[in-house]
Amino acid sequence: MNLLRLLQQRFAPVLADYADDPAPFVSMVRPAQDTRFGDFQANCAMPLAKRHGLNPKELAAKIAEKVHLQDLCNEVEIAGPGFINLRLRDDLITSEVNRLLTDDRLGVEPPRPARTIVIDFSSPNVAKPMHVGHLRSSVIGDSLYRTLKFLGHRVISDNHIGDWGTQFGMIIYGYKNFLDNDAYTRTPVAELARLYRLVNRLSDFLEARSELPGKKRELEVAERELAATPVPPKGSKDPADKEAEKAIKKLRSQIEGLKDETASLAKKIERVETNAAELALANAHSNIARAARDETAKLHAGNAENLRLWNEFMPECLAALQGVYQRLGIQFDLTLGESWFNPMLAGVVESLKSSGMAVASDGAMCVFIEGNEAPFIVQKGDGAFTYATTDLATIQYRVGELQANEILYVVDTRQSEHFELLFKTVAKWGIAQVDLRHVNFGTVMGKDRRPYKTRDGDTVGLESLLDEAVKEARTIVDLNEAQKADKGEEPLDDAARQSVAEIIGIGGIKYADLHHARESDYVFDWEKMLAKEGDTATYIQYAFARTKGILRKNSIDPIQLLAQGAKIQLSHPAERTLAMQLLKFPEALDAVCAEYRPNQLTQYLFETANAFSAFYNDCPIKGEADEALRNSRCLLAELTGRVLGRALGLLGIQTVERM
Ligand code: ARG
Repeated sequence: MNLLRLLQQRFAPVLADYADDPAPFVSMVRPAQDTRFGDFQANCAMPLAKRHGLNPKELAAKIAEKVHLQDLCNEVEIAGPGFINLRLRDDLITSEVNRLLTDDRLGVEPPRPARTIVIDFSSPNVAKPMHVGHLRSSVIGDSLYRTLKFLGHRVISDNHIGDWGTQFGMIIYGYKNFLDNDAYTRTPVAELARLYRLVNRLSDFLEARSELPGKKRELEVAERELAATPVPPKGSKDPADKEAEKAIKKLRSQIEGLKDETASLAKKIERVETNAAELALANAHSNIARAARDETAKLHAGNAENLRLWNEFMPECLAALQGVYQRLGIQFDLTLGESWFNPMLAGVVESLKSSGMAVASDGAMCVFIEGNEAPFIVQKGDGAFTYATTDLATIQYRVGELQANEILYVVDTRQSEHFELLFKTVAKWGIAQVDLRHVNFGTVMGKDRRPYKTRDGDTVGLESLLDEAVKEARTIVDLNEAQKADKGEEPLDDAARQSVAEIIGIGGIKYADLHHARESDYVFDWEKMLAKEGDTATYIQYAFARTKGILRKNSIDPIQLLAQGAKIQLSHPAERTLAMQLLKFPEALDAVCAEYRPNQLTQYLFETANAFSAFYNDCPIKGEADEALRNSRCLLAELTGRVLGRALGLLGIQTVERM
């Protein structure tokens, strides 16, 4: 049962007497901010009173009288200017919490109606190693997938991998010219990644070398101009002075920009110039960028040799991806990459042309959307289709074949403009009704508050990140086990420690990512991530293990207890608070789905673990003489463990019974 929803349903008919659209007022029935005043709170009387020119306190009392609440709440209290404070009846909490003990769904009702939801997440560009940036999409997407599925929707996860992009031209060029055969035989994906990086570096170098002198001149000109511009007297109100001030400001920021650009070009040059072998390669392949583009074009045009190479590379690349997903515990229903939609792209452009939506502009085919300056380019001047074209074909497929009612794109905020144009184009295109939603997220930052990079300035590989997490976790586990040994408890053996380390290391990374509001950038911080106290996976995993420990230490089998008719009773405030918290699980899932925010679930978990910790401290079991109360507490611990375990599971985080 969803208590919040139930209360809201009770308020709805009464509030309908005061508003044509009562929904916004119904949603003012909320969990109480301060539980000293009740469990829930209705703040709707004040705005409604204002609307009708009534006294808010009187209206609150009238509403409270009319709403049928006797079976749910104690005496309703009107407080302050017209708050309605609701405190649930203890017998209701007791009976509901006992009901959860035999409910696999932990009180979560199936959605009405169930929807077909496609989630597009992870979606890396293959043949480049996965990096830390792919973590967020993978982890957020997976947790939404698990949650929506548990609720009872028909959910399809689709890894829209970039397997047809320009990186293949670079790799093919690299393969044809710079291949290290032995390395390729030994570790094909690593060699392909090396080739990709090498071709990238060489073409960046050549481009930078030809651009740098021009940029330097631009910088000199701007600097000379600045030096020659007389600085107007400070605080002058003369319009001419104000203009001059503006011009100076503009010049300064232009100079800053040019300095950054020249510095970055110089760096690209230095990287290769300081490496004699690479410099020789660059000079010998002075057309590399264009040549790589030609290889991509040949691949797309069906050139036999390039297709053969693509077919040779793909299984290796996919296997490497699979390795990462396996470690992360992520599975996809579908992996329909960009290449899969290739045959449909010409049809998409035809359809857009014939409906008059796509028009030729500067040689390219574009869709212009009112209010957006940038056009949505669906075919380039050279005939190549784009990322946009592919996304349009993908939507057609998902709606037509997969019958999607809704598509979620778990993709970096930096692609917002693309999705805005995509969704507007689809709306104009008029394919069947579908809700499209960009579930965007911010960047993972280093401690320097810049995008997280290795010391050499490379993006951080996802695999090495996971290795590091497990290594860090292992140190913590070993420390913990040493303490246990000191206390005379039996420590875990090596294999058990390693598997605990894997679970808390990877869980720690996932939780750290999920517990931030998804739009915000966050700083990657090992120490915080694996802390035993605080809003971390480790803290919750400990709470879970502790629930298991309680049962173990008291030699309790919860199934047996239940069969013997044992029940949860609420005799202590900490028990009541914990029970209330467990009953709020369905509310937490609703909150996740309202705006696709897994951090609503981490917040719920943190509060639940806190409530459990208070219960653990205040409500002893071993020393308790009353057997019924002892059993009740064991059952409450058991139920807490099930809620924690389930909620962590929905985040894609595993648990261990002993840690
Ligand atoms: N492969 C793209 C990238 O790495 C992300 C794809 C997201 N999904 C989509 N349907 N556009 O930037």
